[in-house]
Amino acid sequence: MTVLGIESSCDETSVAVLKDDLVLANLISSQDFHINFGGVVPELSSRAHIQIITTLVKNALAKANCTLDEIDAIGATAGPGLIGALLVGYTFARGLAFAKKKKFVPVNHIEGHIFSGFLSEDKPTFPLLVLAVSGGHTLLLIAKSFTEIIKLGSTIDDAAGEAFDKVAKMVGLGYPGGPKIQAAAEKGDKMKIPFPIADLKGKYDFSFSGLKTSVLRYVQSAFGRPQNSPIPEADLNDIAASFQYAVVKALLKKCELALKEFEISSMSLVGGVAANQELRKAFLQLGEKYKKKVVIPKLEYCGDNAAMIAFRAQSLINAGESFSLETDAFPNFSSKYFINSTL
Ligand code: KG4
Ligand code: ZN
Repeated sequence: MTVLGIESSCDETSVAVLKDDLVLANLISSQDFHINFGGVVPELSSRAHIQIITTLVKNALAKANCTLDEIDAIGATAGPGLIGALLVGYTFARGLAFAKKKKFVPVNHIEGHIFSGFLSEDKPTFPLLVLAVSGGHTLLLIAKSFTEIIKLGSTIDDAAGEAFDKVAKMVGLGYPGGPKIQAAAEKGDKMKIPFPIADLKGKYDFSFSGLKTSVLRYVQSAFGRPQNSPIPEADLNDIAASFQYAVVKALLKKCELALKEFEISSMSLVGGVAANQELRKAFLQLGEKYKKKVVIPKLEYCGDNAAMIAFRAQSLINAGESFSLETDAFPNFSSKYFINSTL
């Protein structure tokens, strides 16, 4: 089966061609100009998607050495995300499917991330413990199959990526926060400042707003930020390293609890924050400790990409799910595969 995938939920336009389990093309056009605004400007994002999408689809097909006639299905991100941005990729894909009489699959963006480990050569196995960490979500899940996902916990305030972005802004590192914090942290001492890890009622829930506030208090009292002059580089590196350490510890703590409580076959770390090297290392070590297979997608598949959307579309078709161009005029953004069940 050959699937064309289209992703446009935020600031990446991406088009992929997936043939069975081989990614023939995965083109990603990142809207770097948002750097000038300190964050994503939704209106500009939609416009940039419109400008590039046709070219990207043509280029992806050319790279895959494939014609539209050879495509069996088209999958596109239907949400969650910025509505104007989503509409560009989604309506483009739907129009193409209508004109070319192809199967059309609306894909939930988070589900795309959740199963992105399957783009790796060595595939995860079910039941699969998934830590999904992105700019908008922080979720701990157990996928029993491609259509049964049990949510163990989620963030009660900021997402992990959002915390990276906000802290980066606060200390003057700018946007995008994750990679900048990581780069500074590499030169810093992670034990320098003991930032707190939230203790929550929900056993598997996360919270990052307290951590964010304590970084703010620290920089305010030590350096008079954000009003005053820049923080000296050595201190900045220590703050970044200590903050990153606290985030990784908070995430891993809940994963370990789940490994102790549930029968798990393998573990996967996914989403934009899964690009973080400290987190990747710690997640792999946890897997080793509990003798579990660990699958972390390569960097290309951690941030937003269309290969994961094409894979999710393919897995739903293979699971016997069907979608109609007529009835799914505007899909429900929430996932229908999250089930209320214990293992
Ligand atoms: O999955 P993604 O590309 O978009 C969303 O669906 O949100 O995730 C983007 C998030 C941003 O918050 C970004 O700062 C974070 O992933 N991120 C990182 C790293 N690279 C990207 N966070 C920590 N370390 C990184 N190396
Ligand atoms: Zn994402």
